[in-house]
Amino acid sequence: MTGSAGPIARGRFITIEGPEGAGKTTQVGRLAAHLGRRGVPSLVTREPGGTWLGEQLRALLLERRPAAEPIDPLTDALLFEAARRQLVEHVILPALDAGTTVVCARYADSTFAYQGHGAGVPLETLQAIDRAATGGLVPDLTVLLDLPVEVGLVRKAPGEVTRFEADHDIEFHRRVRRGFLELAAASPGRFVLVDATLPPEDVEAAIIDAVEALMRPPGEPEPSAPRIHQ
Ligand code: TYD
Repeated sequence: MTGSAGPIARGRFITIEGPEGAGKTTQVGRLAAHLGRRGVPSLVTREPGGTWLGEQLRALLLERRPAAEPIDPLTDALLFEAARRQLVEHVILPALDAGTTVVCARYADSTFAYQGHGAGVPLETLQAIDRAATGGLVPDLTVLLDLPVEVGLVRKAPGEVTRFEADHDIEFHRRVRRGFLELAAASPGRFVLVDATLPPEDVEAAIIDAVEALMRPPGEPEPSAPRIHQ
């Protein structure tokens, strides 16, 4: 067929993960702005959320619960995965298929870190439900914004405190952080670890370097001149 541009190259799937107060929202916005300047079609979304149903589930999941009814961690995992399935099916996969790069604040690694390492749901159980929910969709790149939990928790304004911070002690958050680091160590090809205690501009530069490396065609050398941030 003449004039055909050929099949559209699939978009990249990038996730930004990290414990509480790591600055994910800020950095997702900065990365989207960078992709915009580069002319890369991109879509920003978040978990839980990103769809009508997902946002309803988000409100339920993050609301401070009545004291009389603790919420079982597997129940949490199933609800996060329900929101995830809706997001994958209705937002992420269609965008990737259309050649759009997707940047998502949190994804499956959060379930493994929080409900698995943090709350003790067996990782095999989580892997099984996550595979069913996502059809095995794994990010091309996961940026882990790492910082000590003591630093992250105090960054949160009182109005931003969710059930996950209110219901859990510092040891829970330490397990979550260690869980993320373990996940990163187990998949070094997918994860890039960034020190989230650095100034936001330095965190942004590290994320952009990782994303540029992902986008560089195979075999193309790294640019030798230092990149100038404007
Ligand atoms: P998020 O919107 O990232 O909140 P924050 O900006 O306060 O970090 O995430 C909401 C909360 O949901 C956060 O406490 C982590 C938790 N969470 C899980 O426990 N499991 C999951 O699978 C996801 C996606 C989030």
